[in-house]
Amino acid sequence: MGNPMTASTAAGEKSREFEFGEHDFNELRTLVKKETGISLSDAKRELVYGRVSRRLRALGLDGFRTYRQLLAQGDQKEMVEFCNAITTNLTSYFREEHHFDYLRDRFLLPRVADARASRRIRIWSSACSTGEEPYSIAMTVCEAIPDWRKWDIKILATDLDSEVLARAESGVYAADRVRGMGARRMAAHFTERRQAESTSYQVKPEVASLITFKQLNLMHRLPMAGPLDVIFCRNVVIYFDKDTQRDLFGRMSKLQQPGALLMLGHSESLFKVCDDYALIGKTIYRRS
Ligand SMILES: C[S@@+](CC[C@H](N)C(=O)[O-])C[C@H]1O[C@@H](n2cnc3c(N)ncnc32)[C@H](O)[C@@H]1O
Repeated sequence: MGNPMTASTAAGEKSREFEFGEHDFNELRTLVKKETGISLSDAKRELVYGRVSRRLRALGLDGFRTYRQLLAQGDQKEMVEFCNAITTNLTSYFREEHHFDYLRDRFLLPRVADARASRRIRIWSSACSTGEEPYSIAMTVCEAIPDWRKWDIKILATDLDSEVLARAESGVYAADRVRGMGARRMAAHFTERRQAESTSYQVKPEVASLITFKQLNLMHRLPMAGPLDVIFCRNVVIYFDKDTQRDLFGRMSKLQQPGALLMLGHSESLFKVCDDYALIGKTIYRRS
């Protein structure tokens, strides 16, 4: 896999503004994985080149090597810029897996174990991008609750971007998007679709039936009635200033009752933003 890519990269370099070799791509994708939890496949090479080139131009740097050195020196401000540049719409299945572990072990399984606990569950994936996040939630629910069909469970998945939302709703993923999911999970939740030259994977209708997709701008009024047991608001508020974040989390907290959960992205925090929640785990908050 490596060599043909190197050759094509070398061939393409003449027309490129900056040299971008195999080593540059691999170093940057290792960094992205470490910082954001996102695994970048080979298919994301051009995206990385395009997005990071903009950073090079903004900083007046001469090449990727210099940029990598800057990040390696621990420039935190630029690390955030770098992650933002890469992750605009990026997402992946079971990204930041500890949230799904927590959801299963500390929220779903205790409910299963307690016969008197409510069988009504409402979860909101508030910036769902191409759908990996809400489908990961739905899969976690199906795996944790054997008789989930008898429960009243709804997952709302929203995003500002209608294009990513349409892709989310289709529930079809290329092989590189589901890589690493494990054979058991693949067999349980996906149907393989073979076409002439490629294989894609369709989320099974039963899993998808838990989710409702809707377009929603988080800057606008939140039309849902609540109460919401869990809100996933991950890797979206990094793009908002603090006042906008204060306003948003103030409105979200009104949709949740004490004890409800809020999951944020890896570089996001409610510190000096919202006092309605207590930090109870790595980017996991509980409504006070
Ligand atoms: C990096 S993705 C995050 C996807 C997923 N939550 C995750 O963590 O993997 C950010 C998403 O936020 C969406 N977004 C940005 N601004 C938004 C807004 N004002 N309202 C709703 N969605 C927004 C983008 O369209 C994009 O799909």
